[in-house]
Amino acid sequence: MKRILIFFIMVLGLVTSSVGQATTETSVTSIWDDPMISFYVVVGFLFVVVILVLMVALYMLQVLNYMVKQATKERSERLGIVYKEEPSFWSTIWNKSNDFIPIEKEKEIMLDHNYDGIRELDNHLPPWWTGLFYGSIVFAILYLIFYHVSDTLPLQLQEYETQVAQADEQARKLKASNPVAIIDETNVAIVTDPVALADGKTTFLSNCASCHRQDGGGDIGPNLTDDYWKNGGSIQNIFTVVRHGVQGTNMIAWEGFISPDKMQNVSSYILTLKGSNPENPKKPEGELYVPKEVSSDSTKVQASL
Ligand code: HEC
Repeated sequence: MKRILIFFIMVLGLVTSSVGQATTETSVTSIWDDPMISFYVVVGFLFVVVILVLMVALYMLQVLNYMVKQATKERSERLGIVYKEEPSFWSTIWNKSNDFIPIEKEKEIMLDHNYDGIRELDNHLPPWWTGLFYGSIVFAILYLIFYHVSDTLPLQLQEYETQVAQADEQARKLKASNPVAIIDETNVAIVTDPVALADGKTTFLSNCASCHRQDGGGDIGPNLTDDYWKNGGSIQNIFTVVRHGVQGTNMIAWEGFISPDKMQNVSSYILTLKGSNPENPKKPEGELYVPKEVSSDSTKVQASL
C-alpha cells in the first residue's frame, strides 16, 4: 500500500510539473495562446486523473473481493461446509473465449485419417478468434457503407485537404493579426527605435560578429561599415541578403533562425554602423552604394563621393 501511495505521489508530481511548465510557457511561446492547446492539456490532465481514479477503484475492489472471500471461507469452515471458490469474473471470460476441447478429451475429436502418423484433431477455433473474424467482416461492411457508399465520413485525401485548408486559414489569420510575421523585402523599413536597434545589436553580436567582427569591420564577411556593398546597400538589399543568404558563400540564409522582425532590426542596426570607421577594417568590397534619396540631391552626392 505504501509503495502504491508513493507511486501515486510521483505520478501526480510529474503531471503537475508538466502542467506547471505549460503555464510558464504561455507567456513565451505563441502556441499556448491557441485555445485548443489549453483544451488538450486540460483533457489530458482529466484523462490522467480518470485513469488514476480507475486504478484506485480497481485496487479497492480487489481488496474488497479478497475480504469477502476470506469471510465466506471462515464462515463455511465454522459451519463445517466445504468451501468451494467460485471462478472469478476474469477467469470465466478467459475460459469462455478460449473454449477448446480439453486435451483429455482429444481422443473423441480425432479424425480417422492418418498421413504417415500425422493425424488431425477436429478442434474448433477459439471463440475470441471467430469473434475477431466476424467483427472484422462487420467492420468492413460498415466501413464500405460509411466511407464509399454514403460518403458520410471523409476519406484520407479529403481529410488531408480539409486539414491543409484549415491550416492555411489559421496561417492567414495569424499573419493578419501579427504584421511582424509578414516583413519581407517588399515592406521592410529602416527602424530607428532605440529598443529595436539594441535588439538588432544583440542579434548581430551573437550571430554575425563571428564573420563580420563585433564592430562590423569585416573578417570572413565583408566590412559592413563602409559605403561599398557586394549586394547593394539599401535596407531591402541588406534584408534580402540576411534573409536568403548569398549562395556559394559563407553567408547563410538566416530565415528560420531569426524572426522577420529581428532580421529587420539587425539590418537597420547594420545601417547605423556606416561611417563608424572601426580600427583596421577589411578593404572595401563590391560597389559604391549611393542611397536613392540622396542621389536626387546633388550636393549630398558630392559630399558622399
Ligand atoms: C559564417 C560567416 C558569416 C556569418 C555568421 C554571417 N555572415 Fe554575413 N556575410 C558573410 C560573407 C562571406 C558575405 C559575403 C557574401 C558575398 O560574397 O556576397 C556576407 C555578406 C553579408 C552582407 C552583405 C554585404 C555586402 O557587401 O553586400 C550582409 C548585410 C551580411 N552579411 C549581414 C550578416 C548578418 C546580419 C549576419 C548575422 C545574422 C551575418 N551576416 C552573419 C559571412 C557571414
